[in-house]
Amino acid sequence: MLRGVCQYAPTIIFGELVTRIVTFKVGLLGLGTVGTGTVQLLLDAAGRNPLLQELEIYRVGVRSLDKSRAVNLPNGVLTTDLDEVVTDPAVDIVVEVLGGLEPARSLILKAINNGKHVVTANKAVIARYGDEIFEAANAAGVYVLLEAAVGGGIPVIQPLKQSLSVNRIHSVTGIVNGTTNYILTRMQTEGSSFNDVLADAQKLGYAEADPTADVEGLDAADKIAILASLAFGGRIKLQEVYCEGIRSVSKTDITYAQKLGFVIKLLAIAKRDTPLLPLSVRVHPTLVPQTHPLANINGVNNAILVEGEPVGQVMFFGPGAGAGATASAVVSDILNITAVLKTKTHESRDILHPLLACSHHDYCAIAPMEELVTRFYARFLTQDRPGVIGKLGTCFGDRGVSLESVVQTGVEQELAEIVVVTHDVREGDFGHALAEIRELEAIDSIPSLLRVL
Ligand SMILES: NC(=O)c1ccc[n+]([C@@H]2O[C@H](COP(=O)([O-])OP(=O)(O)OC[C@H]3O[C@@H](n4cnc5c(N)ncnc54)[C@H](OP(=O)(O)O)[C@@H]3O)[C@@H](O)[C@H]2O)c1
Repeated sequence: MLRGVCQYAPTIIFGELVTRIVTFKVGLLGLGTVGTGTVQLLLDAAGRNPLLQELEIYRVGVRSLDKSRAVNLPNGVLTTDLDEVVTDPAVDIVVEVLGGLEPARSLILKAINNGKHVVTANKAVIARYGDEIFEAANAAGVYVLLEAAVGGGIPVIQPLKQSLSVNRIHSVTGIVNGTTNYILTRMQTEGSSFNDVLADAQKLGYAEADPTADVEGLDAADKIAILASLAFGGRIKLQEVYCEGIRSVSKTDITYAQKLGFVIKLLAIAKRDTPLLPLSVRVHPTLVPQTHPLANINGVNNAILVEGEPVGQVMFFGPGAGAGATASAVVSDILNITAVLKTKTHESRDILHPLLACSHHDYCAIAPMEELVTRFYARFLTQDRPGVIGKLGTCFGDRGVSLESVVQTGVEQELAEIVVVTHDVREGDFGHALAEIRELEAIDSIPSLLRVL
């Protein structure tokens, strides 16, 4: 299908008159943090890739025309009519940086159905409606690119689609949410509680007024669903991604973890232990060995570790958010589309570049969490009397759970605190052992259960 109208200019090269595309028109949806960063980058093209000079910000859709803006746009560019942006025949590339599910999803679909290529930073829409969006894009012969949707300024989507795609991927393990990483880092370095750091992070603008999507792990789940889909070549049903946030991580656990040689991170993990078997895709707070490459990713930074055969380990690290960093990712997608449009011939106009388009049609099978094999950290409060550790050991032993370390520390309000780290165990078996332990008369409570990388 032919895309939106581009401008052509006759140019003389070596005495021959050739026609080349000189301008692609961008329709931007949203002029908030990312939209503003994107405009600033596009308006300041000197010293960057020369293709940027061929792009024009043609329309920018916003909610309010009265708001003061950090960028100057020519009269008539700003509009509140978002439909007009996605249907205008002059627009070649629609950039969706509105956020939220609607109207973002409908506008992306409308843009596609009007023959526009789409760039989006919206992980929530892609993780939920990616199948519908990519089906529509393939049918319309247009690209939907989303580098900014995961890891902000870190290039990880294109590397997974291109440079790393010849590898058999074993795992993708990421710190993909800056807010939770900031909170956990401060809890670790200052010994502060979750609630205190969260309140401070909200004051400083590192956490939203409603922090649910971040602290409950939902944002990270959206992102690992996208990464898993690219790494393992299939669609992912978001509802099958296990998700546990960081609200229950206490400073006590952070201190114990540190003594045992770990730090606690919110990890998003997609892993296939055996080829062709179901994937494990999950988000949860995790004890990470202090020597692991992800252990020292602190503050709002993000990092994604990809392990594949034959490449081995490759780690991507950088700013996971922010106007400039995210705009870098958005504009790199615009550039990729521009490059393809520029080199298209009349004969190839209906062929999508196979490394840029989405080719997945099947869903990946996801293993239930009971089948996960991992180490666990558990903290028990028990009666302070002899024989309790023995009873714990018996319950674990009966279920084939072997213990790597058992530490009994201080007594609090007449209760003893016992911290256990297991060897690798099937999560289902560990759960059965815990159910029996809960029934023991000597057990007061099990305040923490965390997985160990
Ligand atoms: N912020 C980051 O660092 C970052 C990093 C990675 C990915 N992202 C993703 O990028 C997207 C945009 O984030 P952001 O932080 O730039 O958001 P933002 O600052 O809240 O900006 C949203 C923009 O969209 C406009 N908008 C929202 N809903 C609208 C509607 N119904 N009709 C018309 N205009 C509407 C707003 O218009 P007004 O200006 O008129 O209010 C505003 O300009 C989100 O999907 C986010 O997840 C953000």
